[in-house]
Amino acid sequence: MDKFRIRGGKPLKGRVTISGAKNSALPCMAAAILTSEDITLHNLPYVRDIITMRRLLEDIGAHVLTPELRTHKISAAHIELQAAPYDLVKTMRASVLALGPLIARFGKARVSLPGGCAIGARPIDLHLAGLTKMGAEVFLEAGDVIARAPEDGLKGAEISFEKISVTGTENLMMAATLAHGRTVINNAAREPEVKDLAELLNKMGARVRGAGTPTIQIEGVEGLSGAQHTIIPDRIETGTFIVAAAITNGELEIKDCNPEHCNRIIGKLREVGVEIEEVNQSTLHARRGPRGLHAGDLRTEPYPAFPTDMQAQYMALMTQATGHSVITETVFENRYMHASELQRMGARIQVSHDKAIVDGPGKLIGARVQASDLRASASLVLAGLVADGETTIERVYHIDRGYEKIETKLKAVGADIERIRESVTAPLSSARDDAATA
Ligand code: UD1
Repeated sequence: MDKFRIRGGKPLKGRVTISGAKNSALPCMAAAILTSEDITLHNLPYVRDIITMRRLLEDIGAHVLTPELRTHKISAAHIELQAAPYDLVKTMRASVLALGPLIARFGKARVSLPGGCAIGARPIDLHLAGLTKMGAEVFLEAGDVIARAPEDGLKGAEISFEKISVTGTENLMMAATLAHGRTVINNAAREPEVKDLAELLNKMGARVRGAGTPTIQIEGVEGLSGAQHTIIPDRIETGTFIVAAAITNGELEIKDCNPEHCNRIIGKLREVGVEIEEVNQSTLHARRGPRGLHAGDLRTEPYPAFPTDMQAQYMALMTQATGHSVITETVFENRYMHASELQRMGARIQVSHDKAIVDGPGKLIGARVQASDLRASASLVLAGLVADGETTIERVYHIDRGYEKIETKLKAVGADIERIRESVTAPLSSARDDAATA
């Protein structure tokens, strides 16, 4: 398994380019199942989860061509198997996104239940309850969810989420595109990735309105056609690089991002002393402000609030800020696994239930630490960049799931970071304990 070795203390300077959003790319790839015509997606990030989703599509019979590195042309004309197998679902929870499109187009789907998960229990009950409301029969068999539509297909329904779910919203939105009549999803996730998926679906001929608001309405149509779509920039990668500039006391120009999608991240980071300038609609300039970093409380919540996927990176930053920061994680339970690794590097953090109190600023000292999930790994990289001496981060396959060539991007702006290859690639099965985080 690959490792990162980082020698901290180098202020980052220069320009980084943001990749496409993994969390938008995954549902858009799954949406290709909805049509027999070609779906061409541009600006896909070159990360492991995309490779996993491609494998899933190919496993069920789709053809995927890669005319360019970041472009996939997906043809689901001949789907042989309406099933997402366990060995893929267990490594990537987002595999569950195959469920909605499969049942919508073929009337049946079999998807393994995502297994135990590194960031708390993450059930898919909301996805299943929604499908049931649309008339599907849903049952469990040998660890798989089996869903069957009525003979004449899914029916539009009014679905109200008791808890906001991003992939739940996406799955049901996709299922509803080919259902009879109108579906209304109340308390829907408002993430930009949900809106991006809706845009693709509408290009395919679907009739989706209201994506990006709490109420989404979908009028079912008879069939969907091919389309081309460019994936939005990754807002979490953008936020991670803003933190990288601030934590190392460096200065970064962050290109090809969408500042509008990062409003709350930018707002919060400005509040704690990071200077962020919007150079233009797709470029940010970030550095630590002249008065230094100071503590700030944080509460994660669904979009448009501060994202849980930036909580770990924020925690790393707060180890370098003056004062006590109280972080409250409301989206996932048990999403503080990075805290104990940061403590091993000298950070003063107390975790109690959904809260973590960070006492800064304190010197971080390089140590041997272990990545536990995707975003936790990012926080360890950030801590390593500012720590005295050498930090070795083990199990970086977690970070490879969602950050495109992070060490190459960091090195290009002055970080002393190298990948130590211990095998060509981590076997997919070794990501078992990451089960589908983020
Ligand atoms: C997505 C993102 C992930 C992000 C998360 C929250 C993708 C591929 N992943 O994950 O990066 O951290 O949103 O912003 O887009 N829940 C239930 N029942 C369900 C579904 C969810 O109780 O059926 C709970 C979960 O346990 C969690 C909360 O709802 O506590 C939010 O989860 P959800 O939004 O579904 O996360 P994902 O879509 O899996």
